[in-house]
Amino acid sequence: MDSIVVKGGAPLSGEIPISGAKNTCLKLMSAALLTEQPLTLMNVPRLSDIRTMASLLESLGCEVAMLNNGQVMVLRAGNIANAKADYEIVRKLRASFNVLGPLVARNGTAVVSLPGGCAIGARKVDLHMMALERLGATLELRDGYVHASAPGGLKGAVIDFPFVTVGGTENALTAAALAKGTTVIKNAAREPDTVDLCKCLSAMGAQISGAGTSEITVQGVDALHGATHQVIPDRIELGTFMVAPAIAGGSVELLGGRLDLVTAFAEKLDAAGVQVAETERGIQVSQTNGRARAVDVVTAPFPGFATDLQAQMMALMCTAEGTSVLEETIFENRFMHAPELMRMGAQIDVHGGVAKVTGVERLTGAPVMATDLRASVSLILAGLAAEGETMVSRVYHLDRGYERLVRKLSGVGAKIERVSA
Ligand code: EPZ
Repeated sequence: MDSIVVKGGAPLSGEIPISGAKNTCLKLMSAALLTEQPLTLMNVPRLSDIRTMASLLESLGCEVAMLNNGQVMVLRAGNIANAKADYEIVRKLRASFNVLGPLVARNGTAVVSLPGGCAIGARKVDLHMMALERLGATLELRDGYVHASAPGGLKGAVIDFPFVTVGGTENALTAAALAKGTTVIKNAAREPDTVDLCKCLSAMGAQISGAGTSEITVQGVDALHGATHQVIPDRIELGTFMVAPAIAGGSVELLGGRLDLVTAFAEKLDAAGVQVAETERGIQVSQTNGRARAVDVVTAPFPGFATDLQAQMMALMCTAEGTSVLEETIFENRFMHAPELMRMGAQIDVHGGVAKVTGVERLTGAPVMATDLRASVSLILAGLAAEGETMVSRVYHLDRGYERLVRKLSGVGAKIERVSA
């Protein structure tokens, strides 16, 4: 199995292009099931999660064609040949549970595996199911699968989420697009991914208002049509690469990066003494004053500080001056990177959802591994600042969500390579 080896200490300079957003693209792909006409997605990131979603859609009867070296994807669900999303795929990719809404809306029935456990928390799907039931679907749990049916079609309703769920909002949106009448989604996710999904659905003929606010209204239509849509830049990849010069020193321009996608995160970097500036082509991040300063962080739904950037911020805080407190409020088990960072000399105390990090002057390289995508990349970032060699194993986590990570970082001067064991 491959590993990534990082030799720390090299300051970074140059530019990194930001890819299309993984989590956005996955949901856009599931929306292709809503129409028999082709949906063309541009700026598709070349990632294993995207390939997994493509194979799920193919198993449902959707044709998937990749063009332009994999960056353009044409999806055509002429007819739904099979409305069963198998456990073998759903267990690998939780986002695949988001085919439930489109399948029931278009096909009247669907059988979708429950995703099961996850390294970062329980990650239930009860609110996805509540939303579908509010829209008139009958749901039954059997053999680990959700059997959903709405033979007479879905009907618009008020869906009031008790707390923000990104995937739940997106499943509700795609289902409501073809429901009869009006759906109001309250306490809706305001994440850029959800806004981009609304934009794509609108281009396909859906009637949606309120995207980007916590109340979204969907006026159901009889049918959607094909469209061409450009996937937004990946704000989590962007935030991750913003940490790279902040932790290693130097100055990097992140091409295509948009500050409005990472406002809360950029404010924290600024408070930590990292220079962040918008440029004509993206965002320039520089750290020329030595160590960052400690800042406190509480994760929250958008526009708050993204949970998907908490591990990367923790890596930065490991070498910051002072003590920072990081509070994780979205997932109950999202500090799995802390013990690995401690193997590199970090001083971290975790109590429940709160981690106290006391910055040290220098981390030292070590063999490390992590249990999820963002935790893994935080170890790569820590390796950029560590003395000696850091070997990160379980690279398949990184392949799920970071396009050409090694190439992008070595392009700005990082000493990083992928090795086969
Ligand atoms: C999305 O997951 C992202 N994944 C996650 O990114 C991200 O961390 C998360 O949103 C929060 O921003 C994709 O978009 C594919 P939620 P999602 O529903 O939709 C609880 C990454 O690293 N909940 O907003 O699954 C849930 O357990 C990944 O790229 C229920 O209790 O997140 C969590 O505590 C990791 N019942 C909270 O809500 C439900 O039915 C928020 O989860 C649904 C969610």
